Amino acid sequence: MSAAASARPLTTAVPSNEPNADPPQRSTAMYRLEHVTKEYRGKRTVTALKDVTLEIPAGQHVAIQGPTGGGKSTLLQMLGALDRPTSGRVVLGEAELSHLPDAKLAGVRAAQLGFVFQGFNLIPTLSAQENVEAALAPLGVAAAERTRRAGEALAAVGLADRAGHVPGELSGGQQQRVAIARALVKEPEVLLADEPTGALDEGTRDEILELLEGIRRDRGLTLVVVTHDSAVARRAERRLHLMDGVVTER
Ligand SMILES: Nc1ncnc2c1ncn2[C@@H]1O[C@H](COP(=O)(O)OP(=O)(O)O)[C@@H](O)[C@H]1O
Ligand SMILES: [Mg+2]
Repeated sequence: MSAAASARPLTTAVPSNEPNADPPQRSTAMYRLEHVTKEYRGKRTVTALKDVTLEIPAGQHVAIQGPTGGGKSTLLQMLGALDRPTSGRVVLGEAELSHLPDAKLAGVRAAQLGFVFQGFNLIPTLSAQENVEAALAPLGVAAAERTRRAGEALAAVGLADRAGHVPGELSGGQQQRVAIARALVKEPEVLLADEPTGALDEGTRDEILELLEGIRRDRGLTLVVVTHDSAVARRAERRLHLMDGVVTER
């Protein structure tokens, strides 16, 4: 059984109410952002996010588009527990991230969030297998289990036969698959991707998008993709536009 098929049950699905339950089913929110403002203070203060209030249901595929400087990366940093808002609240599941200390934020990132980047961000001296295993090290997973889970994750992205290759021996699309395996091996609830296909040709882009979409569907993951490529955004269930720090629905 592939890692994708053996994923844990969907904690993210709509609660299994009785058929006639009243009130009707609520969708579970993965993220709730309430009045999130982010300022970068320097010689000039830049307000990168302005009073953003937003809910992302569990399991949703969201695309975030908008011009350079609009605040996309800043928003992704909030969702990714990489930074805190200047004011407002960021709630992931039950946890409010806005006031957690750095060590707790790092723990949330390591355990709950998978990241995929435009430039793959693999360690060039490590094999595909070792790159994927590295994601489990902060979680205290024993060596034998790291090996097993990394092998399953590579199989789930179709790279079982490339486990021993270093990134320089792999195509861009294959490197991005390794990066996706690295994100998945933690069994995160959320996958955050910043221009995941920005460095790929169109054919490879579509393969990677199909892979991400299939993973989201099979595992019930929440998938947030920042992109300036409308062909990427069109595949999402929901499109957000971010300009001058203000989010609008498309
Ligand atoms: N670390 C930082 N320090 C100061 N200003 C920043 C920093 N990061 C981003 N900004 C500014 O915040 C605004 C939003 O940036 P960003 O979130 O990177 O937008 P995008 O990803 O949409 O291009 C821009 O005006 C940018 O210059
Ligand atoms: Mg950016």
